[in-house]
Amino acid sequence: MGLDVREMRLDETPLVIDYFHSSTPEHLEMLGVDPTRLPPREAWATIFNTLYGVEIEQRRGFFLIWLMDGDPIGFSSCDKIVFGAQANMHLHVTKPAERKRGIGTQCVRLSVEIYFQKLKIKQLFCEPNAFNVGPNRTLQRAGFKYVKTHMTVPGPLNFHQAVNRWLFEPPV
Ligand SMILES: CC(C)(COP(=O)(O)OP(=O)(O)OC[C@H]1O[C@@H](n2cnc3c(N)ncnc32)[C@H](O)[C@@H]1OP(=O)(O)O)[C@@H](O)C(=O)NCCC(=O)NCCS
Repeated sequence: MGLDVREMRLDETPLVIDYFHSSTPEHLEMLGVDPTRLPPREAWATIFNTLYGVEIEQRRGFFLIWLMDGDPIGFSSCDKIVFGAQANMHLHVTKPAERKRGIGTQCVRLSVEIYFQKLKIKQLFCEPNAFNVGPNRTLQRAGFKYVKTHMTVPGPLNFHQAVNRWLFEPPV
């Protein structure tokens, strides 16, 4: 399979909106996402328009698209970006049938390279729900180190939950 990861274009961001809005309540629960906190589709599109109008150094979010043989298969994003220092990553294979085939691990590795290059970061964190096995296993396989488990509200879409903090730092 030919996997490719690159910066998501603005016209591709409906992938993100559709993914969350078409997810089952059970899937959102696994992600730690509160469905009442999802922005309505049109409002979310406006948020993306504004985001993409900002220079990368000032961006609050940065999105990558994952492609298999040229077709979208998933995406990753960063938020809590401190340009030149650190950011928090998210990861999603959008088609359930394509999960657990090695795509996530490969695409996370490729995404990490892009984040370090584009955001000039020194540290990349990821904090999946502690009970969500998929990302926790994938992050370990992709070279992230476990830091700790703690209770937090990870982001504006999330409810209060236990998360595992993982950290990627390039070898010195
Ligand atoms: C998390 C996700 C991106 C990982 O991508 P993936 O393509 O499924 O991951 P891989 O196939 O590379 O699997 C990597 C490892 O995780 C394991 N794994 C993945 N999903 C798993 C699951 N649901 N249950 C148990 N193990 C799982 C794989 O078996 C593999 O283990 P190994 O290292 O022993 O071989 C994908 O499962 C996904 O999109 N899940 C739903 C969205 C999500 O939970 N996102 C995280 C939000 S923070």
